[in-house]
Amino acid sequence: MKITVIGAGNVGATTAQILAEKEFGDIVLLDVIEGMPQGKALDLIQAGPIYNFHCNIHGTNVYEDTAKSDIVIITSGLPRKPGMSRDALLKVNSEIVKSVVEQVIPKSPDAIIIVVSNPLDAMTYVAYKVSKFPGERVMGMAGVLDSSRLRTFIAMELNVSVENVQTFVLGGHGDTMVSLARYTTVAGIPVTELIPKDKLDAIVRRTRDGGAEIVSLLKTGSAFYAPAASIVEMVDAIVKDKKKILPCTVLCNGEYGFDDIFIGLPVKLGKKGVEQIIEIKLNEEEFDALQKSADAVKKLCQGISF
Ligand code: LAC
Repeated sequence: MKITVIGAGNVGATTAQILAEKEFGDIVLLDVIEGMPQGKALDLIQAGPIYNFHCNIHGTNVYEDTAKSDIVIITSGLPRKPGMSRDALLKVNSEIVKSVVEQVIPKSPDAIIIVVSNPLDAMTYVAYKVSKFPGERVMGMAGVLDSSRLRTFIAMELNVSVENVQTFVLGGHGDTMVSLARYTTVAGIPVTELIPKDKLDAIVRRTRDGGAEIVSLLKTGSAFYAPAASIVEMVDAIVKDKKKILPCTVLCNGEYGFDDIFIGLPVKLGKKGVEQIIEIKLNEEEFDALQKSADAVKKLCQGISF
């Protein structure tokens, strides 16, 4: 396996670190800043003897080195500043993502692309349009992160292991994301039987604002540990052909009544990429929330010039 991580900032470098520790394959870390990906790659390789991992980690500024990648992870782009919405990054980051995709795709025409740049749903759409790849090979990372945040807050509230909490957060990666309380369980017990509605609503709100909460604390960047872990969970499902069901940002072809739009839905991930979109039954309120989210993503995507 050859895995390329574009962008050697906090998200990219942390992703490379976890991938190396898991020995998924050779890693290429690319950034436009000269010396930075090379320095981080060298530093990471030198952790190998202690962690006992063995893989090639190559830092670079040139796309030639990314040739024949199996998976390309795009983390490039500006992060938000405190008080800023992800959508405010649309113009600047769509130009960056476009340029990355144009350069990486001719060298790795069979790769699976995982987009992480914000605004996530729109940037995944950009990668799809520019690459002209089949939809199953282009996906965005958001649902795993948002679900992980929700799982964390529920586990904190109940003082139980995070491992016991299962949930789905669907829709766009922004203010309209849809936390599905009805599909949330703690060791198989519906969460609605364990946490009163007002507390659960507050947890859902904290999840929705989870990224902004970290941005306002960090002041000079956005979250990276949980985003990197979420990327690696998707890579793990693909590399090991696990057929794991995870919420990912994917292309809809009529599923849930949506077309030509990328939005977070439960999907089966395996070696071919998105192998199936799982259509779960939603009640009217849940569907309305998902529809609202899809409308917001669609509106945002209309602001992209190709
Ligand atoms: C977040 C950013 C990465 O949710 O979108 O933390």
